Amino acid sequence: MKRVYVTRRLPDPGLPLLIEKYNVVVRTADGPIGKEELLENVGEVDGLLCLLTDTVDAEVIAAGKKLACISNYAVGFNNIDVAAATKRGIPVTNTPGVLTDTTADLAFALLMCAARRVAESDRFTRAGKFIGWDPMLHLGYDIHGKTLGIIGFGKIGRAIAKRASGFDMNVLYFDAFRDSTQDEAALGASFAPIESIFKQADFITLHVPLMEETRHLVGRDELRMMKETAVLVNTSRGPVVDERALAASLRDGVIAAAGLDVYEDEPAVNPLLAELDNVVLAAHIGSASRHTRSLMAKLAAENLIAALSGKRPQYIVNPEVLK
Ligand code: GLV
Ligand code: GLV
Repeated sequence: MKRVYVTRRLPDPGLPLLIEKYNVVVRTADGPIGKEELLENVGEVDGLLCLLTDTVDAEVIAAGKKLACISNYAVGFNNIDVAAATKRGIPVTNTPGVLTDTTADLAFALLMCAARRVAESDRFTRAGKFIGWDPMLHLGYDIHGKTLGIIGFGKIGRAIAKRASGFDMNVLYFDAFRDSTQDEAALGASFAPIESIFKQADFITLHVPLMEETRHLVGRDELRMMKETAVLVNTSRGPVVDERALAASLRDGVIAAAGLDVYEDEPAVNPLLAELDNVVLAAHIGSASRHTRSLMAKLAAENLIAALSGKRPQYIVNPEVLK
């Protein structure tokens, strides 16, 4: 019987699907697995099911002498050295599609929460400071009718465009690969150079993968291009934004507000951010609906099963290993 190591308990039906077929070891501890523990456990297994918090680098991959699939329970796979896996012929799989709308919902929630100061108002109310309706209390920014800039126009970016049309927003997008004009028309989105998005948008939301090209895509210079009233939303990966520059910009009024679900040095959050009222800080919950996490678990298990059976997994990030 093949052996599979799973680095954390997952929602059903992920584990039952694997247990039917394989000798499965599930790590039961809470919190991300450390490098040593991962190295100790990949030695004899055929399959690894891991999380975005697990660093599967070349050393871990080399330690997995029998490793025949790395199934990531996430759409992002920057935690895995895919080149090292490819070199050893190991398929790496991920879970796109099932989390698209759930993540877009959260990005929109952060956008609205930051613009309308919902979290700040909640803190204020809980602190017993609400003494009555006030013409000047917690005035924020309108969302409807404003310009939204979507950077990264893949599945999640497009799902954001759909939501924005319900708010009568003017939608601009940038992607390294320009979409067909047909899709643009259907989604009511117009392509714009990234600089003009930084300059024109009232809201900017990031939906790019983390790669060398996207690290600090939003830094001091880009923040300075933005409107003083702009709101930045990041549900992609923390290092896409220079967090220190963002904290300083929010403090100094270079931009108005931000909604963040991801951090540069996750789970650490820059202490400067935590002191500010004009930033909403979520705990990397983009895909965290009960339904979606369960679909992700099923998909991650099915990807692993397909790869270990010599079939093409539904979602593989390095398909060249199948040839
Ligand atoms: C979440 O961040 C994911 O990549 O699935
Ligand atoms: C606000 O509550 C209003 O009635 O305008």
